[in-house]
Amino acid sequence: MKTKCGILMLITFITVTCVCKAQDSPKKTYQEQYRPQVHFSPKAHWVNDPNGMVYFNHTYHLFFQYYPKDIIWGPMHWGHAVSKDLINWKELPIALYPDSLGYIFSGSAVVDSNNTSGFGKNGKIPLVAIFTHHDPKGEKAGTEVFQNQSIVYSLDNGTTWTKYSSNPVLKNPGIKDFRDPKVMWYARQKKWVMTLATQDHISFYSATDLKSWKKESEFGIKEGAHGGVWECPDLFSLKLNGKTYWVLIVNINPGGPNGGSATQYFVGNFDGNKFTPIDTNTRWLDYGPDEYAGITWSNTGSRKIFLGWMSNWQYANQVPTQTWRNAMTIPRDLKLQQSKGEILLASKPVEELKNIHTKTVVLKQLQVNKTIDLSSKISGFKGQYVLKLNLAQLKDYSIKLSNKNGEELLIGYEAGKDQYYIDRTKAGKIDFQKNFAGRFTAPRLTAAKSSDITLVVDKASVEIFTDGGLTTMTAVYFPNSDFNNLTVITEGKLNINNMRITGLKSIWK
Ligand code: FRU
Repeated sequence: MKTKCGILMLITFITVTCVCKAQDSPKKTYQEQYRPQVHFSPKAHWVNDPNGMVYFNHTYHLFFQYYPKDIIWGPMHWGHAVSKDLINWKELPIALYPDSLGYIFSGSAVVDSNNTSGFGKNGKIPLVAIFTHHDPKGEKAGTEVFQNQSIVYSLDNGTTWTKYSSNPVLKNPGIKDFRDPKVMWYARQKKWVMTLATQDHISFYSATDLKSWKKESEFGIKEGAHGGVWECPDLFSLKLNGKTYWVLIVNINPGGPNGGSATQYFVGNFDGNKFTPIDTNTRWLDYGPDEYAGITWSNTGSRKIFLGWMSNWQYANQVPTQTWRNAMTIPRDLKLQQSKGEILLASKPVEELKNIHTKTVVLKQLQVNKTIDLSSKISGFKGQYVLKLNLAQLKDYSIKLSNKNGEELLIGYEAGKDQYYIDRTKAGKIDFQKNFAGRFTAPRLTAAKSSDITLVVDKASVEIFTDGGLTTMTAVYFPNSDFNNLTVITEGKLNINNMRITGLKSIWK
């Protein structure tokens, strides 16, 4: 947190200058350079973690860490957006403002169908959000107890929220990083379970009324990655071959597989009191540099839909956008899959992405001899498309997105190391922060002899889902002009069984 405050003071001057410049030459909103066209970003200003994601009355709610006065991190609010299909978003007025107890840090929201909280009135089901109150005065004073959990409720579909008069509901026991509550209903024991990030481990609490929380257990001091602080956890069940497993997501910053922020997960069992992992291996939900604080929507039944923040704390405050900063990933469906004797999480873009499909170009039995230029195939797609490749053989290849200035982003596979990579060292603007440029790698997590790769390409980001989603990578980039060229490159000959390129409509029109 100190780092964030430091950054805030240091670059306020630069940012004010940038915002003024942007105002001197206004561009239409959502048409600015680098503005994501198929991903959610707020109309203006700073965004980080997705918060309070809940499905209610046929609507997906997305709240988010938001600072409405600048394009750098500041006193946190909860911004709000809604969608009927997870793809097309409408931004609504700010849902939660900082108050005397502090800034509104990350948290979750639940549908309290049985009115366990007593907040429901006249038969109206309350939506209850649970978040961290971060007291900046306590932090400045050097106390350890400046993060506490509070609740708010809404009786009008999340439009307006009332803060509970006896907040906070869970007081800090003396742990500096004590935050990001994710709450779920544990039906078997008719109680709510809160999964809370407590510095270098997870603490589980339970309550029957969302107000009186009792500590159940801890997990993780010795398990998983520990290169940084544990933040934004999530706990949910998924079935595999008829058997129920529990997945514990733990975001960590820094200490990710490619530096900085990242999302790790554990698969195991949860009995309402305690989480027991199958093993203590470290696993990453996304190996790229730019997926963080990802968690899932509440109240979606057995479907588990994940969304992350598409950035990294290493440079989130410096990326070269001018009127807004940062965005969310594409929502992803999570499934468990068995591979090489392990139970892994596989991610894939939600089916609803088809709502913005335009035209599809299909190429079958394509033989690439060193290189093939596919630029003409994407020329009508304005830089937003899904590319799917299906390969019968495991050979080195790279997919190059490039522009007329010779800037390029490389995505590929190296058979020798059996790994995927994204290389943005020559992808345009890179020197705004020393860790931004880089070549990021991810292991191939299947023994299968064939391979598939799906890229979701937006104006300034790519998300990669390989081998049925077992390996996922996300990266942002900032070319000086759009990447209008697409080439596949290989050493000798490469046989592509099937290639599909589908254009995507902007969600802002
Ligand atoms: C994660 C995080 C959370 C915190 C929030 C503050 O990115 O640091 O732990 O609640 O951001 O904005």
